[in-house]
Amino acid sequence: MIYVVGIGSGGKETMTYEAIHAIEKSDTIVGYKTYIDLVKDMIKEKQVVSNGMKQEIDRVKKAVEISKTGKTVSIISSGDAGVYGMAGLVLELAEEEEVKIISGVTASTAAAAVLGAPLMHDFCHISLSDLLTPLDLIYKRVEFASEGDFVICLYNPRSKGRPDYLKNAFEIIKKFKTGKTPVGIVKNAGRDGQNVQICTIDTINYESVDMLSIVIIGNSSTYIKNNKIITKRGYERKY
Ligand SMILES: C[S@@+](CC[C@H](N)C(=O)[O-])C[C@H]1O[C@@H](n2cnc3c(N)ncnc32)[C@H](O)[C@@H]1O
Repeated sequence: MIYVVGIGSGGKETMTYEAIHAIEKSDTIVGYKTYIDLVKDMIKEKQVVSNGMKQEIDRVKKAVEISKTGKTVSIISSGDAGVYGMAGLVLELAEEEEVKIISGVTASTAAAAVLGAPLMHDFCHISLSDLLTPLDLIYKRVEFASEGDFVICLYNPRSKGRPDYLKNAFEIIKKFKTGKTPVGIVKNAGRDGQNVQICTIDTINYESVDMLSIVIIGNSSTYIKNNKIITKRGYERKY
């Protein structure tokens, strides 16, 4: 059995019981070193196989190899394993092994809870990383999501190697959303080092955003009240 476990933000309190049980039942834990560190208190006696970033294929092949020896393996992913995580790759590479995907709290919903209620209406996830996706397709999705008045959650928003993609994305967003649209930036949502900023499209400080952050941009009915971001669900239209 291979479990693909979304561990949530990192603290045990943000993990599901199902995720905790899968890790407890596993002989071997496979994962990116940073995520292994987040659950190290839970895996003391277990075999641990960790490697670095950008070695996802090796990691999955290793997990499949170990599971063939009869061991129960958990591959851990941060947040939800099915959101820019390991779930798809495991299903693509596994052969006759039984695979169970265990969902977790993804960064957007963890950050939304900290910011208030910005995801009360239709929203989308866009990753600004062009490691696996052509950049023109990313910008096209930003454009269409903005034109469609979606609340937009930007994953992988800004790194040292891609310092300008966030600013470029905002230049596109500004064509469709007003400068007063609320923006929430949460770094390390739900784990040590959590930092929260509430600003607007006009006042965002791009330099304050890094790869440990998620950026949530409101829709045309999003507003700020008592330092919380709220996207209206539309009750005023019904009652
Ligand atoms: C490769 S994606 C992994 C997403 C993960 N599978 C999830 O469901 O949250 C990495 C990006 O997710 C976002 N992220 C993951 N955990 C986060 C957290 N605790 N706080 C803020 N952003 C986070 C960041 O934008 C980061 O660059």
